[in-house]
Amino acid sequence: MAAKKKTAGKKGAGKMAKNAARKSAAVVKKAVAKKPAAKKAAKRNVAATVVKPTAMAAPVPRPPAATARPPTEQAQVAVAYNFTPNRIQDWRGIPGSTLEQRDLGLDAATRGLMTARHVRAQGALAKLAWRRPALDFHYVYCVKGWMRFADDKGGSVTLRPGDGANLPPSFPRGEIEVSSDFEMMELTAPLGRAAPSKKRTDRFAVDYDRPEAYISGDGPRAFMAYRDAGATAATGRRVNINIVRLNSASDESTGWHYHTLSCQFVFVLRGWSKVIVEGNSEVTLRAGDAMTIPFGVKHDVPGFSGDFAVLELNMPADYTTIATEAPAAA
Ligand SMILES: [Fe+2]
Repeated sequence: MAAKKKTAGKKGAGKMAKNAARKSAAVVKKAVAKKPAAKKAAKRNVAATVVKPTAMAAPVPRPPAATARPPTEQAQVAVAYNFTPNRIQDWRGIPGSTLEQRDLGLDAATRGLMTARHVRAQGALAKLAWRRPALDFHYVYCVKGWMRFADDKGGSVTLRPGDGANLPPSFPRGEIEVSSDFEMMELTAPLGRAAPSKKRTDRFAVDYDRPEAYISGDGPRAFMAYRDAGATAATGRRVNINIVRLNSASDESTGWHYHTLSCQFVFVLRGWSKVIVEGNSEVTLRAGDAMTIPFGVKHDVPGFSGDFAVLELNMPADYTTIATEAPAAA
């Protein structure tokens, strides 16, 4: 009996030890489960703190060293914001092709570090040579119709509305075929302006518009869903490109804030949003409109349409979004 009791005691102690081990494993699991989210938040560097105004004008903070831009990009971006509305009179024919284009202001905003253009067919199916100059970075996004071109493995790729592709510097310059209603948004960077980075993948990758690619809150705003277009790895974190859309129709707004970015570029894909930039009156951005906002410039986005979707380019990929008080004049 005594021996039985002893055994039972051992079993009880064993059970307690097991329970304790299970509990501590659960705690470890919880911590491990939390780690990626914490890591993600740290990666995005989303600051929830409100910067209180002081009596003296506070200097605009510089980005932390970890988010520093390549040396060639330190002081070369514009200081004023730029709004490029989608106007008929800004379209120009592209010499030697049946396409036309309009400049979206990124070239001026970054002093030639990057360009953004809106390209479209002029009502006819077109097959043309893709005369790509030597580029450091090239991303295309199909807005309307379709485009077809040879990939780097002898196959062919067709991009439809919402699809994008990263074309590395080594990508073959073959033929491109586009539908008569074709429209695309094209982001490029010339060679020789970015510091070399061993982290670049420089791989050809198609970024298809799949519902599962949109991750709710995977960016500064919890009420938005973000689709990473794959430029972060391709460029060694020089830029990142997101396709961003509202989770659902709501009366959300961003509140006044600024970003520690050299430059943020947005191109509205669908719907509209209202934007107020410090010192300027409110503008409404609609499909086809573009805007660039330089480092530290305060702005607010007080309203969106329920179907709002935008392509955003952030330079560099890692930055902080800082909530702030409304400017005195706003
Ligand atoms: Fe913003």
